Amino acid sequence: MRKLMIAGNWKMNKTYTEGVVLAQDLADELKGADVKVDVVVCPPTVDLKGVSEVIEQSEAPFELGAQNVYYAESGAYTGETAPNMLEAVGAKYCIIGHSERRGYFGETDEDINKKAKILMEHDIVPISCCGEPLEIREAGTHVQFVVDQIKADTEGLEISDPSKYVIAYEPIWAIGTGKTATADDAQEVCGAIRQTLVEVFGAETADQIRVLYGGSAKPENIAELVAKPDVDGALVGGASLKAADFASMVVKAGE
Ligand code: PGA
Repeated sequence: MRKLMIAGNWKMNKTYTEGVVLAQDLADELKGADVKVDVVVCPPTVDLKGVSEVIEQSEAPFELGAQNVYYAESGAYTGETAPNMLEAVGAKYCIIGHSERRGYFGETDEDINKKAKILMEHDIVPISCCGEPLEIREAGTHVQFVVDQIKADTEGLEISDPSKYVIAYEPIWAIGTGKTATADDAQEVCGAIRQTLVEVFGAETADQIRVLYGGSAKPENIAELVAKPDVDGALVGGASLKAADFASMVVKAGE
């Protein structure tokens, strides 16, 4: 049985102090709550250490994730962050291949594949994103588009613990737009992702890999989304910036 996951992607929001306050607010919101899902918060890189300290001091029921990593151990890569640096500040997860990284920063499936491999060597769980742009959705070729991304992103990956590799399906037209894919839309693609994972890794492993949905997920639609058989939680942008909304999604997902 897959444990549901609610992961918050703060994107490029919150200074160090604001990030600490938001993490503390979330810890307070979730205090005493019956948290039945895995909860992850992914602040900007410079906020990681501060949020990590909040988690430790408050014994908060969530874990730390980063939003990006570079696929080398160290060296002359100005501006980048190595996996052991994430590890050292307590990051247990890392988002890779977000459509904003693919779109604005030219990340390719090959980059994303390398990032997954190096993260897994460091026991950091990749949250590997995929998803189609609007024109592909309108052309009706979105399922094949996403299946191709998954095949490229997982090429040569060896998964020993399937609970430690996570996929997030995020249709680009639904990100930050208020336009949520319907739960049926999400299920259609998440189901196709599961089938692809069966082909790549075999049924037993595929059955344990979590596939999240992302794109305007919020307290009002989370229950309907996670009710679908292949939707194992959500990667949340906008609504993760409000502690009360995010906490409410955590609780509702577990009901
Ligand atoms: P959104 O973003 O929830 O604000 O649509 C989701 C994401 O990009 O991860």
